[in-house]
Amino acid sequence: MTEAFHYKGGELYCESIPVSKIAQKVGTPCYIYSQDHFVRQVQAIKDAFRDVQPLVCYAVKSNSNLGLLRAMALAGAGFDTVSKGEIYRALRAGAEPGKIVFAGVGKQAEEIEYALEQGILMFNVESESELELISKIAARRKVEAPIALRINPDVDPQTHKYISTGKSENKFGIDLKRAEDCLKRIRELKNLRLKGIHIHIGSQILKNDRHGEAIDRVLPFIERCKKMDFPLEYLNVGGGYGIAYDVGQGVDITEFAKVMLPKIQQSGLKMVSEPGRFISGNGGVMLTQVIYVKKSAEKDFLIVDGAMNDLIRPTIYQAFHKIWPVKQQGLKDGSVMGADSPLTDANLGKDAQTYDVVGPICESGDYFALGRKLPKMAEGELVAVFSAGAYGATMASNYNTRGRGAEVIVNGHDYWVARDRETVEDLIRGERLTPREVFKG
Ligand code: LLP
Repeated sequence: MTEAFHYKGGELYCESIPVSKIAQKVGTPCYIYSQDHFVRQVQAIKDAFRDVQPLVCYAVKSNSNLGLLRAMALAGAGFDTVSKGEIYRALRAGAEPGKIVFAGVGKQAEEIEYALEQGILMFNVESESELELISKIAARRKVEAPIALRINPDVDPQTHKYISTGKSENKFGIDLKRAEDCLKRIRELKNLRLKGIHIHIGSQILKNDRHGEAIDRVLPFIERCKKMDFPLEYLNVGGGYGIAYDVGQGVDITEFAKVMLPKIQQSGLKMVSEPGRFISGNGGVMLTQVIYVKKSAEKDFLIVDGAMNDLIRPTIYQAFHKIWPVKQQGLKDGSVMGADSPLTDANLGKDAQTYDVVGPICESGDYFALGRKLPKMAEGELVAVFSAGAYGATMASNYNTRGRGAEVIVNGHDYWVARDRETVEDLIRGERLTPREVFKG
């Protein structure tokens, strides 16, 4: 099947729309999302794990655009959240509270109150202190708080160290020994209902056996909980399924499922999963325009109008994002990341060039690619930065007083602006030139 983003007649399309048309309408930089991709990926996980009827809780942090959340809520997805703000977003988008899970090492009292009030499915508890606080708040509200214990299984996800969360040196989860003590405490506390066990070992995991190893580590603990008569219902296996950032990369979700399914079945629990990037990553591109082509003694720079404030992944994680001009005469048809992808060295054209693709921000870390071989480009040309649907817009900032770009959702033959480009007025809202009130120190 053709992927959402594909080239046809030498031009990049999102579903049935040439992306250049969208750039004309909303300007650049902007994010363009394929709604169909998001919904299809939710379904792909449901299909791969159909034997255990998983609840797919989409990780809101990867892309929290309300329009997309709404599409996923309508497709029956649940949501994985990490703040009051994300719970609010999910609910605004039509999420069922009973399909929301709430993780994070630093949940605050106000957030716990809010989540309890809304009736979420469960808190993924990350420490003993958090247990105490949730119990205290639940007691005050005279309710029983539904919780899962997030176990740190000490498994190496073999990914970038900033997005590795399942090793004992990471701040996440509770180690198995302490988790035993937690069971005693949960017994004593009364206001907590232990409904699940949660693990999430990291993100952009490309080896299909890592999740399985993590599940293996918690299976004996699950047995212990059952023996102690805790009302366990769910095994939340987290997210982290890696995607293709380059042609030919990525792992089929069924490969993960093959390893994980027998172990989940062995647990006897219902499966919850929290994929973010797998659903959103290749559902979005960031479009940007070449402002200047600049030559130095050493290099050729493509200076584009997008910058690290719009997409910070290359800067923070030295992440690779495929980049290609939106129009290239004579380029053959095919999906961007598919086996038929035309975006290969063989198709760079005869006057290919090596560029640093950089933004206008005043830092040398402001780049999308260094020393990248690309078709020769000219000022004014549109460029697509691919696989930008996950952790792109959600990590954008206003550094250099740059407004965040528009976000556009494509739905078949139509598209709409799901978030306006920020104006300078938006950026200074809340700031003052002079005091409104002066406090005595
Ligand atoms: N569940 C929990 C508890 C998480 O912490 C995360 C991501 C997910 C699920 C979703 O993981 P995914 O399926 O998207 O891999 N900003 C980084 C990624 C940070 C991931 C943080 N946690 C990046 O741009 O690569």
